Amino acid sequence: MCGIVGYIGPRVAQEFLLEGLSRLEYRGYDSAGVATIGPGCDFEVFREVGRIKRLAQLVHEHPSRSGIGIGHTRWATHGAPTVQNAHPHRSANGELILAHNGVIENYDEIKNRLLKLGYQFASETDTEVIANLIEECLKQRKRCFPHDSERAVGLEAIKDAIGQLRGTYGLVVMFREWPDAIFAARLGSPLVVGVGEGEHFVASDASPLVGYTDRIVYLADHQVAMITADSLEVSHRDHGLVDHDIHELQLDANSVDLNGFEHYMLKEIFEQPSALRNTLRGRLNDDDATAVLGGLNMTPSQLRSIKRIVFTACGTSWHSSLVGEYMLEEIAQIPVEVEYASELRYRNSPMWDNTLVFAITQSGETADTLAALREMKRKGHRTLAICNVIGSSIAQEAEGGIYLHAGPEIGVASTKAYTSQCLALAMLALHFGRLRHLSYADGRAMIEQIRAVPDAVQQALSSNDTVKRIAAKFKDCQNFLYLGRHYNFPTALEGALKLKEISYIHAEGYPAAEMKHGPIALVDRNTPSVFVMPKGFIYDKVMSNLEEIKARGGPVIAIAAEGDRRIEKMTEDVIFIPHVSEFLQPIVSIIPLQLLAYHIAVMRGCDVDKPRNLAKSVTVE
Ligand code: AGP
Repeated sequence: MCGIVGYIGPRVAQEFLLEGLSRLEYRGYDSAGVATIGPGCDFEVFREVGRIKRLAQLVHEHPSRSGIGIGHTRWATHGAPTVQNAHPHRSANGELILAHNGVIENYDEIKNRLLKLGYQFASETDTEVIANLIEECLKQRKRCFPHDSERAVGLEAIKDAIGQLRGTYGLVVMFREWPDAIFAARLGSPLVVGVGEGEHFVASDASPLVGYTDRIVYLADHQVAMITADSLEVSHRDHGLVDHDIHELQLDANSVDLNGFEHYMLKEIFEQPSALRNTLRGRLNDDDATAVLGGLNMTPSQLRSIKRIVFTACGTSWHSSLVGEYMLEEIAQIPVEVEYASELRYRNSPMWDNTLVFAITQSGETADTLAALREMKRKGHRTLAICNVIGSSIAQEAEGGIYLHAGPEIGVASTKAYTSQCLALAMLALHFGRLRHLSYADGRAMIEQIRAVPDAVQQALSSNDTVKRIAAKFKDCQNFLYLGRHYNFPTALEGALKLKEISYIHAEGYPAAEMKHGPIALVDRNTPSVFVMPKGFIYDKVMSNLEEIKARGGPVIAIAAEGDRRIEKMTEDVIFIPHVSEFLQPIVSIIPLQLLAYHIAVMRGCDVDKPRNLAKSVTVE
């Protein structure tokens, strides 16, 4: 949702800005713009509705050699997706220009104040309010210190202004008076600074930096940066200068390019074996028969004292949390609750002492998940995260956790993050189990089963052709049911979510036995039921549920274990997957469902990487 880029240095800024914005396209947007500072310190601003390609065309008609600029992709919140509302926004008297991610809750009140002071507004956005507020703060500062022309005045004006804002912001600002500096500020919306040789890059996540620099600074909330080509100063909004650590960025071009695949989603589906290996790397200890999760930042006795776990998340991450609930309760015998973050943040549910809260998130930026984490932290609970994006807001605010190391996930539909989350949760279950009743022998057995997962996923991917055939057969259906039980009930939910978000087909996931309590009324010749039924203790029960559907004339697609001859007699549309232990089945059984959603969406002509109305990370409530 919205993306920011900025550049200062010897390169042609427009080139980096456009490439950076293309790398951020996956976040979801409906308009885009870039601004540079040209000769005579004039702002050169180009904004377009629609895709970056259109903006690039406009920019190429008016090329600029400027070495300083900012750019933005906007996902409309305040005001329709129009050129006037697109960022960057100039302040009323043209003193500065800025781009903003986030939402300003008290913008109306500030706008009224500024209107009374004579400020004019050209857009309906909350962002333009920030631009005019900074201009007003600059004016007041200059009134008090008329001879001060240092760019630190600009920095202080920004600090004065953001001190009055309520809401979230990632901001990049350029002043007409200081054409050799970019200013950046963040609160609840990520910003990173790439450090190069005689140049700096700014972005709302690390992907635009790949190939330009591997040195990165993650700004924290309330930090403000003053950036020139060869200097970077970070200060706290209310205090003075703060130290900033430079981290190594561990991404290469392959991780952000399509690499020959038609879509990021397909690339990411096929990357799952290697993503899973990265999630496991260095975390299985045969000697102690446990998982090594040092990032939890808790001693064994602290972990032993935990009486209850709460997983909080949204969307696909909520589904992996459900898988985690089944795992932790069965393997480690710890009571687990799974809470939608959007509900938990306001629900005020009674929380016991010794409750450990995990926020589970791919992006680490989901507003509801961040808010739920903060609320739990405020109540005094220990808060950890299972997160993919390094340095993200949730990763920074949690007191520890597990990084997935699945690599950048660009397709809006989450795939590899989901399976990596499930695998991280399996390791968490092993770790907790071994602190409690799980024997050395059981721990060793679990390690072997966990190690086998990446190869099993690789094998499951070979079902691609069969899935494609089945997709062609059912692509025109308007409704799908997804059914599974026990560990594969979350798989059914996740399979249905994948289909609906990228193909716009109505799909519902249920525990298979719940069908007879209502949804079975939906079954007819045109409503396929996708049964997730690998071998396990519940198999016979699921088979009975399948017979109930068949008896009512509903077509059945089955995800079943290799060698299952019984299922072949029930339907010709079977997708076989390799057998793994039951607690690991969700990681393997979701593969054909991801592929099914992908192929159906492509066959229906949908834009799978940028589905309508959706954004990759949902940074608004
Ligand atoms: C998944 O395919 C969705 N696009 C969405 O449900 C997503 O999982 C959800 O918004 C949570 O995102 P997060 O994992 O980055 O917090």
